[in-house]
Amino acid sequence: MIIYFLPIFSPYGTGEGVNKLRQKEINDDKLYDYKIKMKATAVSRTAQYIAFFRAIETNQPTKKRLFDDELASEFLDIGLKLAVKITAMPVIGNIIINYIQKRGLGALSASIARTKYIDDLLKKAIDGGAKQVIILGAGFDTRAMRLPFLKDMPVIEIDHPNTSDYKLDIFKKSNIKSPSNISYLQIDFNKQGLSEFSFQRNINFSLPTVIIWEGVTSYLSSEAIDKSFEFFQKFASGSSIIFTYLHRLALDDSNAFKGVAQMKELLKSKEENWTFGFYPEQLPNYLQTYGLTLYEDNGAVEYRKMYMPERKNLLNGFEFHRIAFVGKK
Ligand SMILES: C[S@@+](CC[C@H](N)C(=O)[O-])C[C@H]1O[C@@H](n2cnc3c(N)ncnc32)[C@H](O)[C@@H]1O
Repeated sequence: MIIYFLPIFSPYGTGEGVNKLRQKEINDDKLYDYKIKMKATAVSRTAQYIAFFRAIETNQPTKKRLFDDELASEFLDIGLKLAVKITAMPVIGNIIINYIQKRGLGALSASIARTKYIDDLLKKAIDGGAKQVIILGAGFDTRAMRLPFLKDMPVIEIDHPNTSDYKLDIFKKSNIKSPSNISYLQIDFNKQGLSEFSFQRNINFSLPTVIIWEGVTSYLSSEAIDKSFEFFQKFASGSSIIFTYLHRLALDDSNAFKGVAQMKELLKSKEENWTFGFYPEQLPNYLQTYGLTLYEDNGAVEYRKMYMPERKNLLNGFEFHRIAFVGKK
């Protein structure tokens, strides 16, 4: 069984099956010449891996797991679904989890802990008065459906058309009814600024809003990042942004953190290259230029320790990954 499974999670391995099946030609793609863009004809593979990690966590014993993401496995191809099932088995499950953690260079535990950390920050923002949630680059995030405190809250998911269409397709095929408080909008951040987009789509800036931007900034151009912060600053005071980012040193020096060189190779093979990061020490000043304040900023080392200190086998890797919680006072 292990022998069957091993190639499935090879970072350099298959996994393109789903993409081939779901490929949608974007007819006007040739009209654009952008230096940085998401693979134009494919569903985000990184979004699928994150759903894979969440599905693994959901299959852990109730007392141990950090969250329940029952929908996560819906987004997986048959190989990854099988792998998730194996990770729930006694003994062999732990062997496979350790293998996935190692092959993914720490992405498994970093993604699981960050999911829980962001859930908690979101709750904090809503308890603090946020009345609207926007999830940028939503991928296969299912927070809008799985967190009870979002039940009556307007939630706007915004994503690249390839990934967003795939998500909605899965809902349709699996007979999953999305509640009416959730809306799904589509954009390519590298082709259109959020300000123009939000004007066209009537986004309500007068509500204190919490924006989640998880696993996205590292794939954007610096112009797209600046434009996004211009967009954030338009929201009412009391609004906040929870975003993940790459320690800039990982981009500038592949040897600064363990696993960076391999991760860059892996992403290159998936055509989802890292393009952007911040130096944490420069972040407060950058944010200040947009009238924003940094409330929290933690790296994977810290947030894994917060949520899974007892899982000693999963505490390493992805040290260059960080989460910031930012607000407009
Ligand atoms: C690593 S996934 C993260 C997904 C989700 N936030 C999560 O944490 O599960 C990156 C997401 O960013 C989206 N994305 C990447 N580049 C984009 C672009 N240029 N425009 C719009 N969305 C983009 C992808 O479609 C994908 O859903």
